[in-house]
Amino acid sequence: MRLQRKSAVVTGGIGRGITAAFLREGASVLAVDRDEEALCTAESELDAGDALRTLQCDLAARSAAEEIRAAAAGHSGGIDVLVNNAHTSRQAPFVEHTREMFALSLGTDFYATARLTRSCYPHLRERRGSVIDFASGAGLDGQSHQASYAAAKEVVANEWAADGINVNLISPLAPTAGVDAWAKQRPEQYEQVVRKLPLGHMGGPETEIAPVAVFLASEDSAYMTGQTLLADGGTLVLR
Ligand SMILES: NC(=O)c1ccc[n+]([C@@H]2O[C@H](COP(=O)([O-])OP(=O)(O)OC[C@H]3O[C@@H](n4cnc5c(N)ncnc54)[C@H](O)[C@@H]3O)[C@@H](O)[C@H]2O)c1
Repeated sequence: MRLQRKSAVVTGGIGRGITAAFLREGASVLAVDRDEEALCTAESELDAGDALRTLQCDLAARSAAEEIRAAAAGHSGGIDVLVNNAHTSRQAPFVEHTREMFALSLGTDFYATARLTRSCYPHLRERRGSVIDFASGAGLDGQSHQASYAAAKEVVANEWAADGINVNLISPLAPTAGVDAWAKQRPEQYEQVVRKLPLGHMGGPETEIAPVAVFLASEDSAYMTGQTLLADGGTLVLR
């Protein structure tokens, strides 16, 4: 088990797959989401006893970061791994993007990630921990109608290397509720992405994306920081 005795905070959707994979590898997890029903389902399906705690809260609220930090510290005495995965955004052509749309996207990703990462810093420093953020191909090669979404991505705090904290990103492609909503709203864009997928399918959240997070949370990636790993079936190639 590669995450034995590690304590993780995991926010959001693909996070459900990550939570399952982390528990299997021996970690204890505080799973955070604003969707209480999803948390209850995770608790009953994963059936992990004390190893799993859930916390319902809205990451856009300023008080969320401290609430999560305190809950994680109360659950397992500290934090080794922080996974910032939750995000909400709306899609629209750039000229129709409103202030509220930018506020929603930046508030649930950029600012929420910044606040939570900062709150967890003392624990991460003490344990020489890892931060895993979620990037998107939209921030790397761009997609129309995704201005506020892309703007919230690609944020990484590299300056913590001196504290022994690794900060890396995963840019995934996985079938989730968020992707379903995008596919309904922009079917041509979705079809184009799926048609071009070199590996022919979107990645299983638990089977194909979460193992990358396990790697980044484990000692196996100790010599990596500031990196974006593309777990996207080969869609993007960076050279
Ligand atoms: N699925 C993909 O193919 C894909 C591609 C590129 C990037 N990503 C990134 O991966 C991450 C997860 O994506 P997903 O597809 O699972 O998204 P999703 O929309 O399916 O799930 C998002 C989850 O975050 C939670 N959440 C949203 N806003 C919240 C808030 N303010 N407070 C608390 N919880 C909140 C939602 O309740 C939901 O459970 C996101 O950061 C996304 O941008 C996903």
